[in-house]
Amino acid sequence: MAEKEGEKQVEEGKMPLLTPYKMGKFELSHRVVLAPLTRQRSYGNVPQPHAILYYSQRTTKGGLLITEATGVSDTAQGYPETPGIWTKEQVEAWKPIVDAVHAKGGIFFCQIWHVGRVSNTGFQPNGQAPISSSDKELFPQLRSNGIDVAKFTPPRKLTTEEIPLVVNDFRVAARNAIEAGFDGVEIHGAHGYLIEQFMKDQVNDRTDQYGGSLQNRCRFALEIVEAVVNEIGPDRVGIRLSPFAEYMEAADSNPEALGLYMAESLNQYKIVYCHMVEPRMKKSVGETVESPHSLVPMRKAFNGTFISAGGFDMEDGNTAVAENRTDLVAYGRLFLANPDLPKRFQLRAPLNKPNRETFYSLDPVIGYTDYPFLETKV
Ligand SMILES: Cc1cc2nc3c(=O)[nH]c(=O)nc-3n(C[C@H](O)[C@H](O)[C@H](O)COP(=O)(O)O)c2cc1C
Repeated sequence: MAEKEGEKQVEEGKMPLLTPYKMGKFELSHRVVLAPLTRQRSYGNVPQPHAILYYSQRTTKGGLLITEATGVSDTAQGYPETPGIWTKEQVEAWKPIVDAVHAKGGIFFCQIWHVGRVSNTGFQPNGQAPISSSDKELFPQLRSNGIDVAKFTPPRKLTTEEIPLVVNDFRVAARNAIEAGFDGVEIHGAHGYLIEQFMKDQVNDRTDQYGGSLQNRCRFALEIVEAVVNEIGPDRVGIRLSPFAEYMEAADSNPEALGLYMAESLNQYKIVYCHMVEPRMKKSVGETVESPHSLVPMRKAFNGTFISAGGFDMEDGNTAVAENRTDLVAYGRLFLANPDLPKRFQLRAPLNKPNRETFYSLDPVIGYTDYPFLETKV
């Protein structure tokens, strides 16, 4: 009897994660978002045909998908075989992937990034030093698969005059994303990459108008938002932020103030969403820790759609939506391992376990498109 009642609720779409939501002009049929996931299968920084299957497997009608982090320029890369969107070839290569997602009714945003100092000369044009807000060197870091270790070369601090050029790279990348057919872009302002290297005071040691005060440290991020909004319109722009995270030696001495200042400042640009990483993901993308902090103040301060990510399962995703702590929940590892995640939630079906050994393996199939669907498993 109790089971019947549960089924009825699902049928009526009462599971909070599976209720519809209007995100700006986009009609979402549910709130389970594919989080951005670097997969390192874009050989030579060009998206490959196997990504058509990967993304379309994870597409539902009215579902929101965010791509893996995608480089805005030839200085933006820091990991092997990650895609870009600064050349014509890359734009053309994205098109069939976007088309496949649209053919199944998905809404697809491209996450655009610049890694800044999370790079080494091997990834840089002419073997030059990576660029950053600072010339502080980054020590070798364990990757989120818990296996690989990334090594870095000391960065070169951008001059004040060079900063608008990098802002412009984000603008052009956003234009290219629209040209490729994407519904919008997510500016990657999280996880210790270039934008955070400006925002956070553990890294930023500048003395110009891009350093020092909180306002100055957020200037670069907000200039990018403004440039991208002016280029493609606010209804196509989201941003990802992780004020509480301490990845890549990028921590802030006052993450609440940083998160709140950004949430409030973003309102003036009327961007469609703000995507924040939960404080419990402070240490690494693969590890959840207890945290006294919450994203609720930022959620309340931001006027647009709020997306939360980091350590969610079905249960607490439903609770977060039911308690109005977020509008949408982005799932990373669970969606990586369960291409039909919304359906599994709907049926309360068991989930495949993500295999971190193949997160970043370069194989076009294994650990990428071979996670079983519900039908084929039972
Ligand atoms: C393999 C892997 C790749 C990731 N790549 C990205 C990325 O490209 N951009 C990004 O913003 N976050 C990236 N993340 C972080 C995820 O988007 C997500 O925030 C994180 O996995 C925590 O959510 P989860 O607990 O649902 O997995 C990655 C995480 C994993 C495990």
